[in-house]
Amino acid sequence: MMSVARATLRLGTTASDLARAAALLAQGELVAIPTETVYGLAVRADDAAAVARLFIAKGRPADNPLIVHVASVGAIDTVAQALTPLAARLLASFAPGPLTVVLDARPDLPRAVTGGLDTVGVRIPDHAIARALIERSGLALAAPSANRSSRPSPTTAAHVLADLDGRIAAVVDGGPARVGFESTVVDARGHLPIVLREGAVSRELLAASLGVPLAALERSDAQRSDTRSPGTRYAHYAPALPVHLADEVAVASRCSEMIATGLRVGVIASPARVADLVAQFGSAVEALASPTDAASLGAELFAALRRAEERSVDAIVIAAIDETGVGRAVMDRARRAAAGSGAH
Ligand code: TXA
Ligand code: MG
Repeated sequence: MMSVARATLRLGTTASDLARAAALLAQGELVAIPTETVYGLAVRADDAAAVARLFIAKGRPADNPLIVHVASVGAIDTVAQALTPLAARLLASFAPGPLTVVLDARPDLPRAVTGGLDTVGVRIPDHAIARALIERSGLALAAPSANRSSRPSPTTAAHVLADLDGRIAAVVDGGPARVGFESTVVDARGHLPIVLREGAVSRELLAASLGVPLAALERSDAQRSDTRSPGTRYAHYAPALPVHLADEVAVASRCSEMIATGLRVGVIASPARVADLVAQFGSAVEALASPTDAASLGAELFAALRRAEERSVDAIVIAAIDETGVGRAVMDRARRAAAGSGAH
């Protein structure tokens, strides 16, 4: 089928904008929506043909399953079979919020949504606009991150348009995403969660909410080899520039090497480190972001990677952070941005 580019409607968050967005979703159109993690590209989960169009718009491999968004724990049974005791416990702590639970899918859920799997990832977003759209449309919304496949996830409506303008019906602009990186995906079918994708709910928080030691979660992860989140296999988060991840102490020498070859370097590091680099290298470095902790690096990372493309920098250097708490998920994103960019 020939795909005809058409204008993507820019919507705000007034009642009439949301009514328009909900009507488009009901018609099977693709609408990018804000969530607390990143913008999602929403489509009604019960419409296999519409879901197939979403995979084409994103350029997403067909075997990479989508997360289905619902408004309440009570609505999970519209897409999944029984809520497991583990899922119920986790959702009591983390819903609404950035936790996706993988459960057995209902037989009538289109397998286009699940990438052919008999399981489905479900999330209850903690964002008033996302929730209003689910409630107004009365639909479960399948929504991957609203970027072209392999690009950094979008944390603003402008990022969505940079990747998908003319390929989707509308984008609802709800301002910048608060968390800035994606949900934690856990298989919640057993006794303990198996972390399939690191995300905004840290392992420490998961373990604490269940009253088990962190080591118990790590043992549970050992079972994951074949249940691993399919999406983590694919190249991800890569801007159109080489990305280097360096230990905090090696950042300056890394910049120095590149600057010596005539490159201009965009840096993402703590405020103190950025100040040192600027003092040492002057305008050969540019601060893309200077986050003060892991959560703020998480909130700024994707936007900083995209911003670099608009600046006259030739490469990006990210200072590594401790892999505790959400630092683990944020480092996962930074590592994959570096791997995906092909820089070494
Ligand atoms: O925060 C988020 O999770 C955002 C917002 C929009 O909700 N969504 C998001 O979707 O990041 P996406 O499609 O970019 O990533 C979904 C991840 C992929 O790694 C996918 O493989 C995994 O979730 N996933 C979804 N369903 C799954 C399932 N049934 N089994 C294993 N992994 C699953
Ligand atoms: Mg994604």
